[in-house]
Amino acid sequence: MILTELLRSGEARLRDAGVEDAWLEAEVLLRHALGLSREVLLARLREPLPPRAQETFEALLRRRLAREPTPYIVGHWEFYGLDLACTPAALIPRPETELLVEYALEWVKGQGSRVRALRIVDVGTGNGAIAVALAVHLPDVRIVGIDVSRPALALARRNAEAHGVADRVAFVQGALLMPLRGRCELIVANLPYVPTQTYRGLVPEIREHEPEQALHAGRRGTALIEELLAQAPRHLRPGGLLLAEHAWNQGKRLREAAHASFPDADIETKRDLARIERMLVVETSAE
Ligand SMILES: C[S@@+](CC[C@H](N)C(=O)[O-])C[C@H]1O[C@@H](n2cnc3c(N)ncnc32)[C@H](O)[C@@H]1O
Repeated sequence: MILTELLRSGEARLRDAGVEDAWLEAEVLLRHALGLSREVLLARLREPLPPRAQETFEALLRRRLAREPTPYIVGHWEFYGLDLACTPAALIPRPETELLVEYALEWVKGQGSRVRALRIVDVGTGNGAIAVALAVHLPDVRIVGIDVSRPALALARRNAEAHGVADRVAFVQGALLMPLRGRCELIVANLPYVPTQTYRGLVPEIREHEPEQALHAGRRGTALIEELLAQAPRHLRPGGLLLAEHAWNQGKRLREAAHASFPDADIETKRDLARIERMLVVETSAE
């Protein structure tokens, strides 16, 4: 048997089990089994199987067929062009969250000389995806990543160290903005926003493997973001920005909550690439 045949058989089994992107997932698992980069695997597809390749790939495939997410099986995943460690201690970062990173980067870069003194807070930092991506792209800013989960924070620290930004990102344990001392210019948050009913119907990859604490947020799903909006006026400086990712049907409610906390702010909802309402944007007026 040659490698391409092994890859094709893996793809077929994943596809039959209802896995989307079966080819990509089979390829990621095979690369992990062989310890090869994408380029090297593609160049060797017509070569015979190395010793034990079939058994190692089979073991990974079985885990995937049992609905374990691929990023947890291989232990890492890409977010905003960065390779980040992923374990069941924290949510697997989603591509839609890149919208928040992009918006934050653009806003910070538009701050001119103020950039050097900027302080950013990432609430519900998880594996540190947003905090690390911002720190890598903004070499002058300081960032605080907050999370209730100690195991998630340990993973976030590992990611900050791996990307050389641990000296500018502090990770602290606590609920929402409670551990924050002083004020900041930018609050970014991808907090849990899945309502109870939706949570119960999620696919097993999510419901049985990712931490419930990272996803589920009460009956409506907006409780934590609303609480963040209630706390934020004490911490966000004038001329500051708050960004919060949310679900497709939460925009209106969150705009109303934002207006109650920040009556003079510019408040809007940004849509993602699929044109779905995805992110609350609150820009407070300068003093
Ligand atoms: C949706 S995950 C997002 C993780 C990461 N920021 C990302 O975008 O991939 C939400 C995170 O919020 C954390 N969390 C849940 N409740 C929290 C609270 N009350 N205060 C702070 N963090 C909280 C969870 O532990 C989880 O790591």
